[in-house]
Amino acid sequence: LLRDEPKKPVKVLVTGAAGQIGYAIVAMIARGLMLGADQPVVLHMMDLPVAAEALNGVRMELIDAALPLLRGVVATSNEAEAFQGVNVAILIGGSPRKDGMERKDLIGKNVAIYKSQASALQQHAAPNCKVLVVANPANTNALVLKEFAPAIPARNITCLTRLDHNRALGQFAEKLNVHVGDVKNAIIWGNHSSTQFPDASHATALTDRGERPVRELVADEKWLREEFVRTVQQRGAAMIKARKQSSSLSAASAACDHMRDWILGTPKGTWVSMGVYSDGSYGVPEGVFYSFPVTCEKGEWSVVQGLQIDDFARSKMEASATELKEEKSIAYGFL
Ligand code: LMR
Repeated sequence: LLRDEPKKPVKVLVTGAAGQIGYAIVAMIARGLMLGADQPVVLHMMDLPVAAEALNGVRMELIDAALPLLRGVVATSNEAEAFQGVNVAILIGGSPRKDGMERKDLIGKNVAIYKSQASALQQHAAPNCKVLVVANPANTNALVLKEFAPAIPARNITCLTRLDHNRALGQFAEKLNVHVGDVKNAIIWGNHSSTQFPDASHATALTDRGERPVRELVADEKWLREEFVRTVQQRGAAMIKARKQSSSLSAASAACDHMRDWILGTPKGTWVSMGVYSDGSYGVPEGVFYSFPVTCEKGEWSVVQGLQIDDFARSKMEASATELKEEKSIAYGFL
């Protein structure tokens, strides 16, 4: 009997694949957590030549895991080979932040990498490739990619703030003692940096009295505006302190969530946060990658419109936009 296989494998590129996030995410992808349990994948794993042996070890482990959805593995340090024909690109490769650094301290190191990856993307990826930048400074790396890969539609390039979004949901769940799956519609505005604005004002939680605003359930404006905001803004740094290296499994999991929702759609009544090229919504300047609340359908994201923004939120949103414009000019200085 012929096995019926309606779905063609999707080629998924992971750069920095021998690193901590890479190690976690390739297993998730090959188990269908990113593209669905019935979607076969071919993994293209890239890392630097110094990590070639370790990368080959990851390839061996993937074979040993006998994963039915995994239809092939490419492990390479060659950009052209890595980007060849890929439909999805998860860009994790880059120098990671160490204790005491801000993410923007990495601009000089990572912007050059993203310039070179932009040409590889443009020359070798599938024309409608969807890109997620994870490496920091994620928003500015995404901007460099967009600028140097003009053939790729700007809508196809995004950066990760789902990690911050999920961290916000996690904080609500802990505070309210509810399941994290019953909390939704947090918003991360702005940069994936300590100026981001984690906004609780539209979030809801499912209780035995139905869906209620988190704001009402927490009933502590000071916590919502100060402690919650600070905790989410500083969570990446807190992780580096705790693990002596940056978040890995939560970053990998968030990257899977980001791609899955983008490609397969967000659940009805739910939005998520994604870093996208600003179209000027909510008065955010154009020309930067900024995190907005978005819904996704049929592989397209759209910014949620019409949310009420108070003065407190406005000033936080502006501060993050200002930082992104600064990062942009620093990046251009390096290019
Ligand atoms: C994170 O948020 O955990 C990552 O961006 C790593 C970092 O530098 O904070």
